[in-house]
Amino acid sequence: MIADAVRAELEARGFDVRLRGRGEQIETDVAIVCFWCFKSTLDPINLRLVQGTAGRRILAFGTFGGYPDSPYAGRVTRLVTEAIGERNTCLGVFLSQGKVSLENVEARKRLPPEDPHHLDEAGIARVMESQRHPNQRDVDRAVAFLRDHLGLLG
Ligand SMILES: Cc1cc2nc3c(=O)[nH]c(=O)nc-3n(C[C@H](O)[C@H](O)[C@H](O)COP(=O)(O)O)c2cc1C
Repeated sequence: MIADAVRAELEARGFDVRLRGRGEQIETDVAIVCFWCFKSTLDPINLRLVQGTAGRRILAFGTFGGYPDSPYAGRVTRLVTEAIGERNTCLGVFLSQGKVSLENVEARKRLPPEDPHHLDEAGIARVMESQRHPNQRDVDRAVAFLRDHLGLLG
């Protein structure tokens, strides 16, 4: 949903948007990377993508399990910025909640509190809330974030 909205907004503004196929490298100076969060950073396919190229300017849009206004969002933003910035320039990172699997919720409740996957009551509420995202508000936020960063894409 978010990637589609970003593409539609760019096309409406006259950008020549090229969709990368699975496994294709980045071939343009500027690229948008849409990821899901894995181990607090880019998912493996997108991590390999940014590690396999250099000198690009990259704007990233991601879904994750946390709340976008939380300290954890700050940590993910920092780690994604660092991963992209190793060989490329990170132009910005947008985060929205995305659906977290409900499969392991019961097992995660039983993990010791110090385990990063442990779910307390607040964690369960967060996972349940994630099922309702991304929603239209997230899409609107993503488009607003894109608009704020358009000046960097030229
Ligand atoms: C193997 C795996 C690892 C994940 N690791 C994290 C993580 O470290 N932090 C996090 O916030 N979400 C994590 N997630 C949740 C995903 O980021 C979330 O399900 C995804 O953003 C949903 O995206 P979608 O709405 O595009 O399907 C993980 C999900 C999976 C399947």
